[in-house]
Amino acid sequence: MEKLTGLKKLKTAVFISGTGSNLKNLIKFSKIKKTPISINLIISNVNKAKGLKYADQFNIKKKIFNFQNIKNTEKKILILLKKEKISFICLAGFMKILSKNFIKKFNGKIINIHPSLLPKYKGLNTHHRAITNNDKFAGCTVHYVSEKLDSGKVIIQKKIKVSAKDNPTSLAKKVLKQEHKLYLAAIMKIFN
Ligand code: GAR
Repeated sequence: MEKLTGLKKLKTAVFISGTGSNLKNLIKFSKIKKTPISINLIISNVNKAKGLKYADQFNIKKKIFNFQNIKNTEKKILILLKKEKISFICLAGFMKILSKNFIKKFNGKIINIHPSLLPKYKGLNTHHRAITNNDKFAGCTVHYVSEKLDSGKVIIQKKIKVSAKDNPTSLAKKVLKQEHKLYLAAIMKIFN
């Protein structure tokens, strides 16, 4: 990834589907001086996604796409990204799978946060699976998005201890707290 100089910040879109705590964290990060990114667009596939409130709160453009026809939707998204001069995409709790064609168009410029120590537990219910398997450790991963689900090159990971008292909910809470730090660390790692 290119090194950034001076005040030039990379126009970034964040894709969400839910609560948006990672989005909020990224927005706050985008406001500090040393940050390499500015967040110019929020895309959601869920029109009631709680995280959309941050678009209004921070005055960021938002757009909802229902993804019923993936090909058509992605075409529209690509047009929008071009119009907004977006050159970097952060997936933050975005629960749709982007097509090979879309990923190719943004090759090496889409990153995702996943709530497990990849390659362990790709896909859904990561915390439930970690608890059921009596894992001693859980964690989160930021990785480049490739054509295969949750399989792109790892940028950074954080490992945390699972305690005997943990259940999927408590573990999710613990991991999410680490996700917020890790996402920022990943971005700093990419651009420094
Ligand atoms: C986060 O835990 C994120 O890692 C996960 O969804 C949650 C979204 O929380 N993402 C995935 O599972 C993607 N496969 P947030 O909406 O509060 O950021």
